[in-house]
Amino acid sequence: MSREHSIYVCQACAYESPRWVGRCPNCSAWNSFVEEKRAAGAAQKRAKRKAGGPEPVAITDIPVAPEPRIRTRIPELDRVLGGGIVPGSVVLVGGDPGIGKSTLMMQLAATLRDLTTLYITGEESASQIRLRAERLEPKPSNRILLLADTNLESIAGVLEASSADMVIVDSVQTMYHPALESAPGTVSQVREATTVFMRFAKARNIPVFLVGHVTKEGVIAGPKVIEHMVDAVIMFEGERHYAYRIIRAMKNRFGSTNEIGIFEMHDAGLREVANPSAVFLAERRAETSGSAVVASMEGTRPLLVEVQALVAPTSYGVPQRTATGFDSKRLQMILAVLEKRVGLRLGQYDVFVNVAGGVRVDEPAADLGMAVAIVSSLRDIPVRADAAVIGEVGLGGEIRSIHQIEKRLTEAQKLGFKRCVLPRNNMHTVRVPAGIQLVQVESINEALAALLGSGGQG
Ligand code: TYD
Ligand code: MG
Repeated sequence: MSREHSIYVCQACAYESPRWVGRCPNCSAWNSFVEEKRAAGAAQKRAKRKAGGPEPVAITDIPVAPEPRIRTRIPELDRVLGGGIVPGSVVLVGGDPGIGKSTLMMQLAATLRDLTTLYITGEESASQIRLRAERLEPKPSNRILLLADTNLESIAGVLEASSADMVIVDSVQTMYHPALESAPGTVSQVREATTVFMRFAKARNIPVFLVGHVTKEGVIAGPKVIEHMVDAVIMFEGERHYAYRIIRAMKNRFGSTNEIGIFEMHDAGLREVANPSAVFLAERRAETSGSAVVASMEGTRPLLVEVQALVAPTSYGVPQRTATGFDSKRLQMILAVLEKRVGLRLGQYDVFVNVAGGVRVDEPAADLGMAVAIVSSLRDIPVRADAAVIGEVGLGGEIRSIHQIEKRLTEAQKLGFKRCVLPRNNMHTVRVPAGIQLVQVESINEALAALLGSGGQG
């Protein structure tokens, strides 16, 4: 027996409720519930063992073959994918509207000119896609096949007969299955679309890229709900107002996460950035207070970035704390440590912090640089221009050791930095690259003295 019944599904986190609720009890999103129909009874069928079904095998008896990879010839993309595209993998490409997802996908299809790519577009018409593609480098060839369709039933038919080597779906939120009653972009439609393309990818061993929009609120069709289904998730970071476009692997079953690829948006599409540290430091004004250079690690790659702070007397009752490219909870913590351990009074000040160039630094090793930038702005004393800073700030005001110190030092030295302030506990492990002086610090006060001179003291 199969009877339909209604349930309500949160579009932000996929939490299910038997009745409509205004606020999700799971993720606290407002107005996020949409009614969906379910066929009852299907799940209750008795489990029966199928003859000829898969049998368990000892792990040591599983044959291993090195994963063959398709090199994309876009090294920054290869890096994020973990060394190229794995055949049969499904990759979700997420990011804000207008950030460059369609551009990157078209450039990928055009670069792989010896492969046939099926580009399924549900957002733009085929002629719009062609117009864009003609403006890009490299130019598209007749190996790119466009399909303007959103109906998963007819698309499944096309896939069945297709001899494509790669499939791009732009975007997964526009796809719908007519048998499901909910609108395109709802959790059940997006899940269904993902299932259709996953099945195809695995059955034919063909890679599929699913483009997905991220909405700021996460409501209506956050690709969140399919992140756990796909093999890899790469996200565009930052704002589209910057020329730089950073893609990051948030999840990767075939490689490490947190690898980033850095591009610049030009007239002819995305172009790789050869020396990202130099680019991110290019506009730094070393004589200005509130700026520090942090040697951070993005995946396996060292990256020097400028962190900026502006501390100004507040004009409203509640002081503002705003972080761009930096975790705001981390900022709160650093401010509390500066109050308690350095003795600063920040209650009457607004604090804005920013990572220049639209990069996001998520690692604790950037703490010390941020703390120094804040004090530099408050005191209006520039940080020593030839120094890079690394270190995690502990709640006691102590500077804690960090990993991969040598790669960071080498990058700093390569970019002409003469000294580096780093945690004392790292000292016994480092081999020092030539031409860089190490300043070891144990506490935040020592670091401030080293970088701001005596004017930095509490
Ligand atoms: P697009 O790839 O359409 O974004 P998405 O698919 O993520 O929504 O990129 C659109 C933006 O990129 C648009 O604002 C214009 C800009 N752009 C360029 O600057 N140069 C180019 O060559 C292209 C194709 C787009
Ligand atoms: Mg697009």
